[in-house]
Amino acid sequence: MSHPKFEQTLVVLKPDAIQRSLIGEIIKRFERVGLKMVGIKMFVPTGEFIEKHYTFDPSWKRKAGEKSIKGFLEKGIPAPTDNPLEAGERILDSLRAYLSSGPVIAMVWQGAHAVPLVRKLVGGTEPHSSDVGTIRGDFVLDSYVLSSGDNRSIRNLIHASGNEEEAEQEIPHWFSKHELIDYRLVQEAIIYE
Ligand code: CDP
Ligand code: MG
Repeated sequence: MSHPKFEQTLVVLKPDAIQRSLIGEIIKRFERVGLKMVGIKMFVPTGEFIEKHYTFDPSWKRKAGEKSIKGFLEKGIPAPTDNPLEAGERILDSLRAYLSSGPVIAMVWQGAHAVPLVRKLVGGTEPHSSDVGTIRGDFVLDSYVLSSGDNRSIRNLIHASGNEEEAEQEIPHWFSKHELIDYRLVQEAIIYE
């Protein structure tokens, strides 16, 4: 097993993060916690590319649908459908449109516990209920009720791998091996040694 300091995770700044000029603000948070950027690129993804990204996990559609239905019920509002798979299918349709609507910035960040650490900094899926101090909690106000009412994806600025298995599937989808750089940051000596 490799040392935990080599753990890698995928982060994608979604089109709303670019359009709201939050690139530096978001990158700063990963830098200052002590993570190391090992790959970065900007491009406009196709709808097919986005669909593949979200369907590595065959149960994602159902889980995303369940989360969305729960978000409605917690607010005492009836969900548009009570079928998680149908809700998940709608989410995927709107994600395809949202994430291929303009440039995104994809990055790979490396460091100890990179996957859960980045999720902690990013915050929960729905900005309305994500914690204060997280990226989604601090810079955006969208809710499930607002986004489904307007028939679009929730604007939450950022994608981050949900667990190590997801990271292992997602990183090679976004980056080829030679686009990831193996180098030493001076600060690693004080963080790890
Ligand atoms: O991004 P995260 O891992 O927190 O959430 P997810 O459940 O894997 O869903 C992926 C993305 O789908 C979210 O980040 C949202 O952009 C979108 N989504 C949505 O628009 N509406 C929902 N009810 C659920 C997810
Ligand atoms: Mg996810």
